[in-house]
Amino acid sequence: MAAKRKGSSPDRLIRPLVRKLHGYVPGEQPNVRGLIKLNTNENPAPPSPKVIRAIRSAADERLRLYPDPAAQPLRETLAKFHGCRPENIIVGNGSDELLALATRAFVEPRQTGTIPLRQAAKQTIQYFTPSYSLYPILASIHGARCNEVKLPAGFELPDNDALRKGNWNFSAALTYITTPNAPSGRGYTTRDLTRLCEAQNGVTILDEAYVDFADEHSLRLAKRFPHVIVSRTFSKAYSLCFQRVGYFIGHPALIGALDRIRDSYNVNGLGQAAALATLSDTTYYRKQFKRIVRLREKTSAALEALGFDVLPSQANFIFARPTGLTAAEWFRQLRQRNIVTRWFDAPKVRNRLRITIGTETEMNRFLDITRSIFRQ
Ligand SMILES: Cc1ncc(COP(=O)(O)O)c(C=O)c1O
Repeated sequence: MAAKRKGSSPDRLIRPLVRKLHGYVPGEQPNVRGLIKLNTNENPAPPSPKVIRAIRSAADERLRLYPDPAAQPLRETLAKFHGCRPENIIVGNGSDELLALATRAFVEPRQTGTIPLRQAAKQTIQYFTPSYSLYPILASIHGARCNEVKLPAGFELPDNDALRKGNWNFSAALTYITTPNAPSGRGYTTRDLTRLCEAQNGVTILDEAYVDFADEHSLRLAKRFPHVIVSRTFSKAYSLCFQRVGYFIGHPALIGALDRIRDSYNVNGLGQAAALATLSDTTYYRKQFKRIVRLREKTSAALEALGFDVLPSQANFIFARPTGLTAAEWFRQLRQRNIVTRWFDAPKVRNRLRITIGTETEMNRFLDITRSIFRQ
């Protein structure tokens, strides 16, 4: 143990920016037997048996070796899957890693003092609220300017005229758009996103973490516009949160920039093996998507029958506003009965619960308990 120096708390060794930082608060991962976990949008189905076999057979004496630094076979397979080239793809330790790398590659840290608007835009990270709550944290970590733009009451994507009238900055260095949106579940059409992307000057990331549950995706925008990147993940739809594999698709110049600043072995070997095996069994996953979408619609209808307001969802979760009790109380009473959902204590969203679609049995139990809570 180091000797104590009077008046010299180790805090002073930490950068002021980091000292003041509030880290991202992930959804709880409680280790409680029998718990129904509907809080972090994980897929209730296991990965395909091919994936489990691939991980098992990769867990041998090769564990002592570094994995493929460029995730080359995975990038080649993804390129075939999406009809692009491996140079259009970078793989990350979850898409979260890539979202963070984008701040470092595309955004100047904030300078103090008065600076011209154009320069301020180069230091700006922009996103809608509510959307993925990691974005403001990434902006603070990087010391960037933040431009938060409120979505309308129904969480629809505003058109360009409405954005122009508000505080949207079409020249922000980096814009994140969650599509389908989280936590609302609202899908944004490719037509509307095209109009927005056409008007954008900075790098625009379409974060499609939940897109496999939606009617359409916007990959073609990443192929058409050099400033647009589409972000995807194996976590949600492909039941692979544990392995941490996500990827970006975009212009080779932007992808190359991210590649230069990533850690050499950023994607672990078992994750690469699991993702490759996933792509060899897409039939298995497509069945899961259909099942989840069917259950999503059934659960929404059941809650609507109770008089709740449920937003139309294009994701594997729903965002529901109860009547008769507050969302906070609904959350608390579900939690007492071993069902965990997500309640955000923030303006405009604290009157709703975000509920991940689980198995049929889990959703039946969730609905039975909800009915009994609201009957009381
Ligand atoms: C909108 C959105 N993007 C990205 C992620 C991160 O996914 P990954 O597991 O690939 O890091 C999440 C996870 O909750 C998310 O909700």
